[in-house]
Amino acid sequence: MLDIKSLSVRYGAHSALNKASVTVGMGETVAILGANGAGKSSLLKAIAGLLAPVPGSSIKLNDEELVGLPAHEIVERGIVTVPEGRGVFGAMSVEENLLLGGHPLRARNGEQARKSEVYDLFPRLAERRHQLVQTMSGGEQQMVAIGRALMSRPDVVLLDEPSLGLAPIVIGHVFETLQGVKASGLTIVIVEQNVKASLRLADRGYLIEAGRIVGSGTAKELRSDDAVQRAFLGGTAATLSSSTEDKQ
Ligand SMILES: Nc1ncnc2c1ncn2[C@@H]1O[C@H](COP(=O)(O)OP(=O)(O)O)[C@@H](O)[C@H]1O
Ligand SMILES: [Mg+2]
Repeated sequence: MLDIKSLSVRYGAHSALNKASVTVGMGETVAILGANGAGKSSLLKAIAGLLAPVPGSSIKLNDEELVGLPAHEIVERGIVTVPEGRGVFGAMSVEENLLLGGHPLRARNGEQARKSEVYDLFPRLAERRHQLVQTMSGGEQQMVAIGRALMSRPDVVLLDEPSLGLAPIVIGHVFETLQGVKASGLTIVIVEQNVKASLRLADRGYLIEAGRIVGSGTAKELRSDDAVQRAFLGGTAATLSSSTEDKQ
């Protein structure tokens, strides 16, 4: 359903993504793995219409070209982003943050029903609906960000490093929540440095190195892939925290 072909992104003379091709089937969860600076966020931003790719790039959703559409129109087509760093509003309550996600036309009029669905998926947010987001833990704030994205009634959710900056045990909670999102039938593209956790969630994955797709496979294949093992033996914080998590 999401078919990305020969997607290139440049920042001035710097090439951040070079002819990347990625396909994501309906209901699939696909992990994009890669070290810091590999081009993962650039990939998601290009899909979301937040930056213009190099001419010749193609991003199709159900055979319709998305390149050139403004970001809000891409949300109307059913693709929503949970950005790196979450982008929640700390001085507003959980509920106010969620309602902000319900503004796209495709979600209007159904906000209350949608909100109940989100609270069913995240009972912890329901308990804390009137709490200011800035007083919540990092993991809870990440759940607010995911819940807000779901308020737009998306078909596809793009997640940029949902585990970033979270303690290992909290990462476990966030990924449990994402299992629930996956089970609800949504299509998920998740960008992560936390390879172990994301491959447990994902059906398939791609490996990006310096802007190029250098490998792909089922989650099972990638887990035992030499290049994946090698690329993440460098001991980044994310890799270390995922191995700590495994020992718990
Ligand atoms: N706004 C920008 N201006 C210039 N270079 C950028 C910008 N954003 C990202 N880059 C560069 O593009 C490359 C890919 O970045 P990014 O997609 O953010 O990687 P990742 O998300 O995998 O860490 C990096 O070398 C980064 O420094
Ligand atoms: Mg990034």
